[in-house]
Amino acid sequence: MIQTLEWTDHGVRFIDQTKLPTEEVYVTCKTHEQVADVIRNMVVRGAPAIGVAAAMGIALGVNNSKGESTGDIKRDFDQICDLIGKTRPTAVNLFWAIRRMQEKFERIRIRPIPQIKQGLIEEAQRMHAEDIAANQAMGRHGATLMPADGGVLTHCNAGALATAGYGTALGVIRAAVEQGKKIHVYADETRPFLQGSRLTAWELMKDGIPTTVISDNMAGAMMKQGKIGAIVVGADRIAANGDVANKIGTYTVAILAKEHGIPFYVAAPLATIDAATPTGAAIPIEERSADEVFGYRDLRWAPERIAAANPAFDVTPARYVTAIITENGVARAPYEESLGPLVNQEAVIR
Ligand code: MRU
Repeated sequence: MIQTLEWTDHGVRFIDQTKLPTEEVYVTCKTHEQVADVIRNMVVRGAPAIGVAAAMGIALGVNNSKGESTGDIKRDFDQICDLIGKTRPTAVNLFWAIRRMQEKFERIRIRPIPQIKQGLIEEAQRMHAEDIAANQAMGRHGATLMPADGGVLTHCNAGALATAGYGTALGVIRAAVEQGKKIHVYADETRPFLQGSRLTAWELMKDGIPTTVISDNMAGAMMKQGKIGAIVVGADRIAANGDVANKIGTYTVAILAKEHGIPFYVAAPLATIDAATPTGAAIPIEERSADEVFGYRDLRWAPERIAAANPAFDVTPARYVTAIITENGVARAPYEESLGPLVNQEAVIR
């Protein structure tokens, strides 16, 4: 399995996703500031991977703390959480992970400092393992929804690289293929950061899953030609009413799907469901640098001084979402009623 990120004795190690697919290189962060940088710069990206990276960054920062009292450690802990919490605003998994580490800290703060440090490292590692298990469970629930033989379109990268491993949307596709379904993936290129053509294509090629990359503006034509039997994407945040924030362009795909009568599925762990956000209108949308629209690495294709918009995510209203696949089962509209019981169910992960 692709090692997106892992805790090592030398720090937190990440596959550098900005270099894929041309180079497979790894970076090891030795400080929490470095972890914050790799989240911000998208060396690691994808909501669940960002969450686990945040947890590991917090554990790393506290482990490096020179604090001699619980008060010192708590002060450092708060500063670390604050810094990491400012990296990317849309992926709610980031805040979910910080909250979980805060709860862990509160439970163990009365212990000696070495035990606090160890407890936080273990919690981050547990979150890593749980994310993989959740993805595999999502895969089992979602595979039944995939066509036995046909095209499945996905947008961005919701694969092993976007998670601790296996993937959410790509986990569903992987599980369907493991069950013997003959799936051909259509991977949207995903402008402007090209997560589809760089990352999804790389991952699926490694697994030998037949894949065709299309530029984003080809999706409608592929649907009209009958090449797409289902769509499955990931999510960065799902509001209580089922509105889904995901990579910019997802909304367009969802509307096209509705027009063509194609089921549009969202695969996401319960950590991505934000019960405190009532509708998609309240989801903060990250605006990234215009440079990402103008070019990639050293290549620039727009004139100097031209303006660009770069919202990294859009919100797909719940009415376009056929079902939401989680590790605890599949939710369907009305999501106000169906998501709550799944979230409140104790970790089932079948
Ligand atoms: O900007 P990114 O690459 O972090 O955006 C990633 C996505 O939009 C994914 O679809 C989402 O995080 C789900 S990943 C399982």
